[in-house]
Amino acid sequence: MEKIIEEKNQGTALTLEKDRKNTRNLYIESYGCQMNFSDSEIVASILAQEGFNTTNSLEEADLVLVNTCSIREKAELTVRKRLEKFNAIKKTRPHIRVGVLGCMAERLKSKLLEEERIVDMVVGPDAYKDLPNLIREVDEGRNAVNVILSKDETYGDVAPVRLNSNGVTAFVSITRGCDNMCTFCVVPFTRGRERSRDPQSIVQEVKELWEKGYREVTLLGQNVDSYLWYGGGLKKDFDAASDMQKATAVNFANLLALVAEAQPRMRIRFSTSNPQDMTLDVIETMARFKNICKYIHLPVQSGSDRILKAMNRLHTREEYFELINNIRTIIPDCAISQDIITGFPTETEEDHQDTLSLMDYVKYDFGFMFAYSERPGTLAARKLEDNIPEEVKKRRLSEVIDLQLKHSLKRTKEHLGKIEEVLIEGTSKKSELQWMGRNSQNTVVVFPKEHYAFGEFVMVRIEDCTSATLLGKAVGYSENN
Ligand code: SAH
Ligand code: F3S
Repeated sequence: MEKIIEEKNQGTALTLEKDRKNTRNLYIESYGCQMNFSDSEIVASILAQEGFNTTNSLEEADLVLVNTCSIREKAELTVRKRLEKFNAIKKTRPHIRVGVLGCMAERLKSKLLEEERIVDMVVGPDAYKDLPNLIREVDEGRNAVNVILSKDETYGDVAPVRLNSNGVTAFVSITRGCDNMCTFCVVPFTRGRERSRDPQSIVQEVKELWEKGYREVTLLGQNVDSYLWYGGGLKKDFDAASDMQKATAVNFANLLALVAEAQPRMRIRFSTSNPQDMTLDVIETMARFKNICKYIHLPVQSGSDRILKAMNRLHTREEYFELINNIRTIIPDCAISQDIITGFPTETEEDHQDTLSLMDYVKYDFGFMFAYSERPGTLAARKLEDNIPEEVKKRRLSEVIDLQLKHSLKRTKEHLGKIEEVLIEGTSKKSELQWMGRNSQNTVVVFPKEHYAFGEFVMVRIEDCTSATLLGKAVGYSENN
């Protein structure tokens, strides 16, 4: 797609004039998980073929799309405020059309259109290829809705237009949907059943990214360790596949090795790993390839066996410790991060203490922590009363956050004095004279720019730290450069 845009820019004055007439401006805002940001790049690609240029300026927009998140109530409230603002703009610029994409579109379906009348178009996460038709409907004055979830859509054949990209790091989607049915989570309802993308199309996308100058990719899925390609189709139908399909199936460890081997200088990350699906194979593959980053995001949600069971997380506290021990034995310098929820229904002080003691055992490098937010339609909402008072949820949350900050500082201090490879991603937010990048463990490293350049792999001696950032000085190029 980028190529087509380039060619347009180089065209004659006449074709440029013609294109300008045909071209409308798309303004797209994304909320929530990395998958949403990645999906917006797919949407931009599909609409570029329909003559839409992307713009960062709301003033120039003809079409406004909001890629939305339903994971917590607060995420939905933020989006609603934005939708109200866009709706208000329509009063002065009536030609603007507003569409809602993503998880809120799927969850609320036509409610946003018919009852609340704040959007013109509602498009679920598997229906983006239908956008050109839906926009035509809207252009002709009709409302447009497509929230059909798919068995096989992975957008494997769409080359994303990289939006707001730093030109060095990119996301590559490898699975869509989730079959895990954690009782608190809305994702299985909004993103449908789990399916994996053809490994060849993944390898090809990573190759093209390398050729365009990208130096790091993050393989994305709700539950990447559950990746399974057997020629297409839903993960749940694998048992019914033919012997041939089973014999040639590609699992996540195989996929990691395929990508790492095909692009040996590209840094590879992945997210997210559900502990119940992470196998020794994956950890061993990470250890085998220098270019797979030593970092695992391993959400635990709770340290209490009783709560883990109520959440339908299919592992115990002991099994989680075993997994942590295996990671530490096989990859001693691996960073591990968490997601934790406080105040899940029925959580007692004792359960909460179990979470704190689990954190003390693991001493995570960093984490993403949330107070429980009941989501309509989930199993927890249907079966359990949201019975932990808001102030108790918040107090437990701040205890978890305080402990994490202590552990993060301990972890960053372990880097002091070491010389680590850093990929330069951009200028530091605090100083024009400093570069910002990340080490293999995903910790941000800041150091003086000197003669080093954007996109280079540099060896940096770590001299100081906060709980979130390492400070250092470059001592030369990495052999990967
Ligand atoms: N596997 C997913 C997890 C999706 S949700 C991924 O790829 O990231 C991200 C995190 O949000 C979860 O790990 C959980 O900690 C949190 N979360 C999900 N539902 C929640 C809810 N109802 N209330 C509070 N936090 C929630
Ligand atoms: Fe949600 Fe659990 Fe899947 S947190 S995305 S249902 S792994």
